[in-house]
Amino acid sequence: MNDMDKKTDKDILILAIESSCDETAAAVVKNGREVLSNVIYTQIALHTVYGGVVPEIASRKHIEKINQVIRAALDEARVTLQDITAIAVTYGPGLVGALLVGVSEAKAISFATGLPLVGVHHIEGHISANFIENKDLEPPFVCLVVSGGHSHLVVVKDYGEYEIIGRTRDDAAGEAFDKVARAIGLGYPGGPKIDKVSNEGNPNAIHFPRAKVDDNMYDFSFSGLKSAVLNYLNSCEMKGETICQADVAASFQKSVVDVLVEHSMAAVKQYGYDKFAIAGGVASNSHLREAFETECKKRKLKFYHPSPIFCTDNAAMIGVAGYYEYIKGTRHGMDLNAVPNLKLGERI
Ligand code: KG4
Ligand code: ZN
Repeated sequence: MNDMDKKTDKDILILAIESSCDETAAAVVKNGREVLSNVIYTQIALHTVYGGVVPEIASRKHIEKINQVIRAALDEARVTLQDITAIAVTYGPGLVGALLVGVSEAKAISFATGLPLVGVHHIEGHISANFIENKDLEPPFVCLVVSGGHSHLVVVKDYGEYEIIGRTRDDAAGEAFDKVARAIGLGYPGGPKIDKVSNEGNPNAIHFPRAKVDDNMYDFSFSGLKSAVLNYLNSCEMKGETICQADVAASFQKSVVDVLVEHSMAAVKQYGYDKFAIAGGVASNSHLREAFETECKKRKLKFYHPSPIFCTDNAAMIGVAGYYEYIKGTRHGMDLNAVPNLKLGERI
């Protein structure tokens, strides 16, 4: 993290706020790609006892934490609100009560200081996380966004310009990880636990299905896979067989990774780009990253991925997306509202 000694009048500093799910986060980003601070208060421990995110608890915790997190982000960046150029905030998609906390906070700061307000799409944030550590990355490229709520194959045509070419028809990839983890007794959040336990398992022990969606080769479907895992567990139970948790985890994960890799590589080939990126919480999966590393090398593609801390929810990625929106002239007013099912590329 740099300090602000080098700040000039031309520098654009974005204070970014993210509260769409169970992370209360704030960051300061300089000129779009330099993260001066990235503060994340994660509520995971609070929700673990319930086996998933409880929206009401998330909203209440955001309210309690948001001022502290913003103060910490400004302090860590060694700046004050006077140094900030604009406020960026996630306004969708996400949990409405959770989003509202960040949006209301951003509007309050904007109103009190007169700083411009820029609403940011959460998934645009995830994609933009790739710009933080990959200074050479410029659009166009293909990006696979895999998180707890979304699985999208996206052509990033330009900054802030997207074409969704594939999406999940049912569960998101992260959702499948979380549900399977719960079924095999690993608990919440499932993704990181399956990632870890898979290291001790055999990915070829059980053959789970790789779903194809007939009318769009880039779409995904993970609910059949989830059912196949549940059926396998039931049949083992009925036969009185004990399951090997690590084998089930590794075999399930292999099935998800195979599908994500196959669809993504087909898309990159079809669209003719030589750059491919991944984003979202599931993008921190070590087996998925390894598989893409290998496949991209084989095809002579440049493979981009954020560090795990920028894959899961954070505000630095919102600051990056917010910067590109800001320099394009996007401004929101005091009527900015939380939009729980905001579509990618939609501007409200
Ligand atoms: O992007 P994110 O933090 O929040 C959403 O916008 O949804 O993603 C959270 C999801 C959860 O489903 C979590 O289980 C999954 O990302 N995840 C992982 C890993 N780390 C987080 N999935 C697989 N492997 C991981 N290492
Ligand atoms: Zn997210």
